[in-house]
Amino acid sequence: MNDTGDTGLSNEAALKEAANKHILMHASPYGALGSDSAKRILVEGKGCMVTDIDGNEFIDALAGLWLVNVGHGRAEIGAAMARQAGKLAYASSTQATTIPAIQLATRLSEITPGDLTTAFFCSGGSEAVESAIKIARQYHYFNGAPKRTKIIGRRGSYHGGTFGAMSVSGTRPQSEPFHGPFMPGVLHASPPYCYRCDFRQTYPSCDLLCADQIGQMIEYENPQTVAAVIAEPVSASNGIVVPPDDYWPRLRGICDQHGVLLITDEVINGFGRTGKMFACDHWGLVGDIMTMAKGLSSGYAPVGGVMCRPHVMAAFEGDNKLSHLLTYGGHAVACAITHRSAMCAGSACWPESSWSATGKRARKFPATPSNT
Ligand SMILES: Cc1ncc(COP(=O)(O)O)c(C=O)c1O
Repeated sequence: MNDTGDTGLSNEAALKEAANKHILMHASPYGALGSDSAKRILVEGKGCMVTDIDGNEFIDALAGLWLVNVGHGRAEIGAAMARQAGKLAYASSTQATTIPAIQLATRLSEITPGDLTTAFFCSGGSEAVESAIKIARQYHYFNGAPKRTKIIGRRGSYHGGTFGAMSVSGTRPQSEPFHGPFMPGVLHASPPYCYRCDFRQTYPSCDLLCADQIGQMIEYENPQTVAAVIAEPVSASNGIVVPPDDYWPRLRGICDQHGVLLITDEVINGFGRTGKMFACDHWGLVGDIMTMAKGLSSGYAPVGGVMCRPHVMAAFEGDNKLSHLLTYGGHAVACAITHRSAMCAGSACWPESSWSATGKRARKFPATPSNT
């Protein structure tokens, strides 16, 4: 029998009925559990395998939702969670921090690219993107450029389901009928998608028109009105778009030239998914602000974060306080698990653990996209 606590739900049939009635599944119609045989009640996971309530075993080929990088069922992570919950589960994110949060932030400053040094914690990827946008806008405000509010995203990219994140996503056409109008001041540029090039060009003779278009956009809008460019180093939702090798250096240069912050969204890419710790590491790319979630905790806790470089943090010194707070940011249990999950692979190497969870070895990441 399943562990159903004191709910009185003692058999599978009762559980299924209750789930169908009382749970609205994400991105699904109401009642989906009853009508769609692909939706399941899962009860157990080990490594890359999961078991449903009927005892069927599945390969969790998508690692949950692209995130269980260290594999399911790691007892040591559960133990770290229990230890921290028994000691101190929560401290107000505005008044205090905790040892697990300090340990995690320090660890992240060691493993994230370049001089990304300071962490702001939250509960997931969308919150990380919201936080990055707010930090970017406030950075400019404190630097005497309050009109720098516009954000440039790229068509086809996904940055989350909350309002700001949805607005900067390049998947807006799908959600516009329900959720438009979106946040104002957002523009979308072409992705570096050579297979379906917006400019009908071929790399390298295109000379990276897609990157230069972002520069032209910034100039046309007036750089003094643009806060940030947000982009995934490898765009997952757009069809795993790996940009040409010189794309990121070019775009990094364009942002620097115009004083525009670059937000690298590593929510899906991060923690080993591309064979390096972060996708940015393939190109030596350092965003001014970097978002992360998913593989950060490998799904053992709902946690996300933003890493910032020192020049971004410098804007928030003295009386310039961050105008942003999330009750659960830096949750002690979440940070304890996450810190523990960072250590899972012995030498604290997420990429190795993420690949060994599926028994596969990382293949070399292609430098340029394949047209096949
Ligand atoms: C690149 C990227 N950013 C942000 C998000 C939003 O993350 P979450 O669903 O944890 O809010 C996602 C989710 O898939 C994502 O792929």
